[in-house]
Amino acid sequence: MIAAQKQAEAPSKLVPHRTLTAFYPAAAQRARFVADLFDRAARDYDWMSSAMSFGTDRQYRRRALRQAGVTPGMRVLDVATGTGLVAQAALALGIAPRHLIGLDPSLGMLEENQKLHGIQLAQGLGESLPFQDAAFDFVVMGYALRHVEDLSQLFTEFHRVLRARGRVLILEITRPSSRAGFALMRFYMQGLLPLLTRLATRHDDSVRLVEYYWATIAECVPPAAILTALCGSGFKSVERRTRARILSEYLGAKS
Ligand SMILES: C[S@@+](CC[C@H](N)C(=O)[O-])C[C@H]1O[C@@H](n2cnc3c(N)ncnc32)[C@H](O)[C@@H]1O
Repeated sequence: MIAAQKQAEAPSKLVPHRTLTAFYPAAAQRARFVADLFDRAARDYDWMSSAMSFGTDRQYRRRALRQAGVTPGMRVLDVATGTGLVAQAALALGIAPRHLIGLDPSLGMLEENQKLHGIQLAQGLGESLPFQDAAFDFVVMGYALRHVEDLSQLFTEFHRVLRARGRVLILEITRPSSRAGFALMRFYMQGLLPLLTRLATRHDDSVRLVEYYWATIAECVPPAAILTALCGSGFKSVERRTRARILSEYLGAKS
């Protein structure tokens, strides 16, 4: 009876985008494709992040974390830590390395992270976090919700590992809602950036990552679906803040 009740209450699955067969043959191959892609492009990732944001990416992450309430003494989990750009922002705000854990499925990204930041690292998926309940004061995920299997499961895991009144921040790029904005962003992300990446890195894998990045942004479920999934996973005070119309900050708190 209790099991049946729990099942009925479980939030329904929310896939962040349709299967992108131009990149992988079927949904079952998506996670492997994504992990391989990041493994191979890891050495160029920080350059690409900077190029995508015209050099504002590090400062932006720091500001977003500060405004979301990250303060020294908090235990922080950086899901999808990658090369550690969000972790670096948390360190700059006074989070002690012993209070900061970065998690990512890509060994290539984790290796780059290890070279630079000296924080605790774990290999794993956001949808099945290898941590105890209520272990963190703050959970952050930067630019990775497009890569998970199920957003409802992801947010349920975030909620589980947060203590009461703990907070979540999810940074994401959102496709512009206006036609002109979409066309402009597509021109940069699909036309110009792959070209610049090829010239600067000379790595096919890094060009492929930029192409995939745009495809997932263009196909991602809308912000309203993400906010609904956060509420469905138990978060309160859920909101989306935006900057330059395309930078989304999703926030929520555990009651
Ligand atoms: C665009 S990078 C973002 C890295 C970093 N958060 C930042 O702000 O620069 C996306 C990261 O998500 C990771 N990732 C992919 N699938 C994931 C999953 N299911 N759970 C957690 N991380 C995942 C990738 O390996 C990659 O390191």
